[in-house]
Amino acid sequence: MGGSVLARLVIVSNRVASPKERAAKAGGLAVALREALNKQGGLWFGWSGETEVDPPAEPKIFKSGRVTYALQTLDPDDQRSHYAGYANGTLWPLCHYRLGLLSFRRSDWEGYRRVNQTFARSLLPMLQPDDVIWVHDYHFIPLATELRALGFTGRIGYFHHIPWPTPEVFLTLPSHAALVNDLAQYDLVGLQTEHDVRALLTYISSEARGWIGPGGVVGLRDRRFRVAAYPIGIDAAAFVADAKASAASSETKRLKASLAGRTLAVGVDRLDYSKGLPNKFAAFGELLKSYPEHRSTVTMMQVAPLSRGEVAEYRALRRELEELAGSINGEYSEFDWVPLRYLNRPFQRATLAAIYRSARLGLVTPLRDGMNLVAKEYVAAQNPENPGVLILSRFAGAADELSGALIVNPYDAEGMAEQFNVALTMPLEERLERWRANMDKVESNTIHHWCETYIDDLTHAADMMSDVLDHRQAAT
Ligand code: ADP
Ligand code: F6P
Repeated sequence: MGGSVLARLVIVSNRVASPKERAAKAGGLAVALREALNKQGGLWFGWSGETEVDPPAEPKIFKSGRVTYALQTLDPDDQRSHYAGYANGTLWPLCHYRLGLLSFRRSDWEGYRRVNQTFARSLLPMLQPDDVIWVHDYHFIPLATELRALGFTGRIGYFHHIPWPTPEVFLTLPSHAALVNDLAQYDLVGLQTEHDVRALLTYISSEARGWIGPGGVVGLRDRRFRVAAYPIGIDAAAFVADAKASAASSETKRLKASLAGRTLAVGVDRLDYSKGLPNKFAAFGELLKSYPEHRSTVTMMQVAPLSRGEVAEYRALRRELEELAGSINGEYSEFDWVPLRYLNRPFQRATLAAIYRSARLGLVTPLRDGMNLVAKEYVAAQNPENPGVLILSRFAGAADELSGALIVNPYDAEGMAEQFNVALTMPLEERLERWRANMDKVESNTIHHWCETYIDDLTHAADMMSDVLDHRQAAT
């Protein structure tokens, strides 16, 4: 992490992985961020997960190892407008191209900005001028604006974990111009894919009248900042180790015994409408209808932990999936075989690794996804001598890297069923070849590499921008 040795890293994210939380439960991103912080020491700031009328203006602070945690409690109405309202009722559907599900209310937009202001006021007294601040995700787009308004002039970066929509979609948002002005207050804006970068830069040049220089350097009114792609990875080595260890675990034995020699196809997704779960269920139903040879020989397991129950669309999706699962099982079950196992519970990472490794098919078919870490986890967990096949939506960011997957269009149930059949009958040699291509990507672009590259680029963003500006001046 050249040059960052002296600077303190400050991470801001809505959810903060408490040090008491076991690594497996916290998820890959949280663990990687914690590792980056532990390495150079730093501050992790975010929401406490609690609401209170008239909350204290200062965050709760505690230390664990080299990391200081600062957790801010929010007013319940503000928290609702911020999280269920603008972040997950407006920005989430917008960025996932679901305009029919988008709701925009001025009161939510105001609540969203108020919460960002609250967070900025609570964070500012803890900041030192040479800190490197790394803000995560769409809950916090205006945070840099609020910090700059309070006088902070140091380096601030933003990483957007979800897709960035094309200008036609983005323009439907009434607050589009304000949000891009907010982005301009950062020094480095990180997106998942080159597609996302193109979408944002096209908006900036065609709608906001900014200029775009080499390396994604942008000029927008009096601001200069950089936009670049940093595809997120996973802790591949940890997944490989967990999956290897899982081969002899009691969970793997139970799972195998329950399958009674049948092939397993697995899906692991938060219960979210961006994940295309009804489409995946429909494609599995289509497989059983059009390829009856797979009846009684394949079991599909969909792990879908509940998510964002406070948003109405998520509750409606839950009901829809219960009905669909019931109808597939009602139609095709035998007295000794249930085609679809549908579970709403979370699992420890080791158990997930065991499930992935036991599955001949990994079904990752979102309608739209920033990256999709499950696709990479599935690849890392495979047995290198007898790997399964990844079926991957072309609309997941991961499809740019995982060229060994069978790429599908989740809107085409018959096409997906066809590819499920291809995967179920694929010879070992082809499975090995495809897996190797995927695994090379998963092993070279890890979460550690992602953290280091981003932090390094943020630390040196000013140098890069001044090179581009010198170049522009020389050219005019
Ligand atoms: P998103 O960030 O939209 O939820 P990703 O696929 O990028 O989607 O990341 C999901 C993360 O959550 C992965 O690391 C995955 O292992 C984890 N996860 C998903 N389902 C479960 C589950 N049932 N139990 C535990 N972890 C889960
Ligand atoms: O990137 C998608 C994301 O919003 C992450 O920030 C978050 O960890 C995950 O989805 C789960 O969402 P939530 O925090 O709303 O439960």
